Amino acid sequence: MRLTVNGIESEISSPPLTPLLHVLRDELDVTSPKAGCQQGGCGTCTVLVDGEPRRSCLTPVAAVDGASITTLEGVGEPERLSPVQAAFYEKYAAQCGFCTPGMIMAATALIDRKGGPVERDEVLEALGGHYCRCTGYVKIVDAVMAASRGEVGDVQDLPVSEAGEPSVEVHGSPA
Ligand code: FES
Ligand code: FES
Repeated sequence: MRLTVNGIESEISSPPLTPLLHVLRDELDVTSPKAGCQQGGCGTCTVLVDGEPRRSCLTPVAAVDGASITTLEGVGEPERLSPVQAAFYEKYAAQCGFCTPGMIMAATALIDRKGGPVERDEVLEALGGHYCRCTGYVKIVDAVMAASRGEVGDVQDLPVSEAGEPSVEVHGSPA
């Protein structure tokens, strides 16, 4: 099996029924999709499969053989955030951040599909299956609407990792 993840094609060696979530996190070291409920109920594992949001915890990797997968790592750079990422930052739409990758991927798909400003009801529907235990949802919905309208400033002076700073990687952990 082969996957193209954030533009990089890889041969996959995990068994065919392995959830895409675990292939991304444990085989390819792509850790923005989070292992939350792992039952399809929380949304934090959401990635784009050929542009459409999918719960990677419920997606056997064999079902997406040959697909193009986009995760949070593929939508922006620390020095150049995507509009949705920048809006989340500006609107304080993340607190612990555990839900944020899935929220941003679903919101990105919504805005790409709509191609222009999205209304509050559309955001609520797109993020309906995504749970956040920190922020409440008002700031998240505001951020998605602002991003869709281009009402996002030029975010600068983000904290940057120091060279040699250890990354937090615990094999099999959900974070
Ligand atoms: S971890 Fe996939 S929906 Fe919760
Ligand atoms: S920011 Fe903590 S769960 Fe959403």
